[in-house]
Amino acid sequence: MCGIVAAVGTQDILPVLVEGLRRLEYRGYDSAGVALVEAPGVLGRTREVGKVAALEAALASRPLSGRSGIAHTRWATHGAPSQDNAHPHVSGKIAVVHNGIIENHGVLRERLESAGYRFDSQTDTEVIAHLIDKELMAANDLTEAVARAADQLDGAYAMGVIHADDPERMIGMRQGSPLVVGIGEQGHYLGSDPLALLSVTDRFIYLEDGDLVVATHGHCRVHGLASASVREGVPVTGGDAPEAGEARQDSDRVRVERPVVRYEHDDQAIDKGEFPHYMLKEIHEQPLAVANTLEGRLGEDEVLVDALGDAAQALLGATRQIHLVACGTSYHAALVARYWLEELAGVPCQVEVASEYRYRRVVAPEGTLFVTLSQSGETADTLAAMRHALSADAATGESPYLGSLAICNVPGSSLAREATLTLLTHAGPEIGVASTKAFTTQLTALMLLTLAQRQVRGGEAGLTARLVRRLRYLPTVLGDALALDGVTADLVDRFRDREHSLFLGRGAHFPIALEGALKLKEISYIHAEAFAAGELKHGPLALIAEGMPVVAVAPMDGLVGKLASNLQEVRARGGRVLAFADPDTGLASAEGLEVVWVPAVCRFLAPIVYSLPLQFLSYHVAVARGTDVDKPRNLAKSVTVE
Ligand code: G6P
Repeated sequence: MCGIVAAVGTQDILPVLVEGLRRLEYRGYDSAGVALVEAPGVLGRTREVGKVAALEAALASRPLSGRSGIAHTRWATHGAPSQDNAHPHVSGKIAVVHNGIIENHGVLRERLESAGYRFDSQTDTEVIAHLIDKELMAANDLTEAVARAADQLDGAYAMGVIHADDPERMIGMRQGSPLVVGIGEQGHYLGSDPLALLSVTDRFIYLEDGDLVVATHGHCRVHGLASASVREGVPVTGGDAPEAGEARQDSDRVRVERPVVRYEHDDQAIDKGEFPHYMLKEIHEQPLAVANTLEGRLGEDEVLVDALGDAAQALLGATRQIHLVACGTSYHAALVARYWLEELAGVPCQVEVASEYRYRRVVAPEGTLFVTLSQSGETADTLAAMRHALSADAATGESPYLGSLAICNVPGSSLAREATLTLLTHAGPEIGVASTKAFTTQLTALMLLTLAQRQVRGGEAGLTARLVRRLRYLPTVLGDALALDGVTADLVDRFRDREHSLFLGRGAHFPIALEGALKLKEISYIHAEAFAAGELKHGPLALIAEGMPVVAVAPMDGLVGKLASNLQEVRARGGRVLAFADPDTGLASAEGLEVVWVPAVCRFLAPIVYSLPLQFLSYHVAVARGTDVDKPRNLAKSVTVE
């Protein structure tokens, strides 16, 4: 998804901008660009289709330099990937980068065209640039002009703005799409996420919706919407005069103090190290990531409910029903949790993709806990579903929801900040677009939630204690499962030249089959479908033809006998089954069936362990097909638009 980097400093900031773009590459994009104020009145701009490396090559032949600038990686929404559509967009002396979607761009475009503006692109962003230019003529102040333009925009956006005549100032604004301010020794920065700026600072302000930030190299002021932030706001009219060179306060906003948060990170976390791809590195990090997610949350025989957050006891104690809402891989984790929560904690559970949940009337019984799962904490649909669910019912003025729990990997993300309770997965930064360690740590956090819910509801303690002991041992089992890296590498010939494949599972391993199929299609571009194996004869069997690869997830889960019969049906029709199985299942390799052993694990934790061979398999098939594993075509890591 689009990425923003901007900087204002005491020295040439081009290297910071380019490094920031490189660090945002993982989000997925199709073009990149940069604009700097090279000298008072002079804007320099370079844009290229393709990778940041192409932009760097262009900059090497036509260098730019300046002490303020904005940069962008674009993931096409309005208009194809092209140089004209790439950001920054310029109007007069203004340059703008933007992430998000302006829903009323059509109306605004017509209005601006009638006012004499000529458009060079098909993007919604160019509307913002012209709008600011137009407002600047009326307001004669850049901050005021940005605020007035923003007031006319519908939709979700984050933006960065510079002006050729104002080389000392940069403006950022957030409404619905993420934007952080980096506070450095040599200047101030804007980034779509902190990772973009870790080479220059680890101190950040997480902007809130409606915030507008004005920064020079020495000062940084955040202005929040008066209605939303008056509690913490310091109205400028109260005597706090603007710094020299800083713009006047815009009429609807007040100065607000946002906390500066130090981003705890480990440099190795965002380095590929010895691995050829981030995805492979992140698969191998899972034993540690799961151990970190469990750290401090397990007692001798129980989950430490209070360690899940101050509000956890009260919230879980009052829970009568759970709605789990997420997108993509996170949705698959939620599907697994439904099996656990209903069987182990006896809590009725509903799971839905966020893009559906947010647009329908959901009947939530009293005592419903709304749970979101999100690696990034910024997925637009998930965030909107949470806001929609927790807003009071228009008719009654009340909400049936108890509150919200966000299971999230990014502290400080929008979801983490807005949820009633946040359970962080400590996976560390996940760079590969295809989610791996974020998924297994989500599952780990969901098992903690399940056991906490079981304890609070007075579930039998013996099974809880056994599962807690097995959870503690889980990182070791995952470590053993890493040996499947080499084994799966030898299996790629079954898939390399195929265009279709099926994945089968039963019970809690049906969602694992769904996730396996998603991984394969995301990065190898092989069409992959997953089915609950019992559904085969209701349609999917028609797809089985000679040599069709079929992957089965076969742990010792009480349903493996049924699954084995389903696999016979596939083999009888010429399908070639690859089964990842527990040695105790009795499955054995034979004509049309290859069995790969997975380390033994109890059935409740098997979904976590069986994720690894499926991740490895997709990875090796993708490498064999020569795709861009970490940045698959058309996909984005963090989907911050609808
Ligand atoms: C994108 C990513 C997926 C991810 C999904 C939800 O599609 O490519 O890997 O599962 O978004 O993201 P979230 O950050 O909410 O888990």
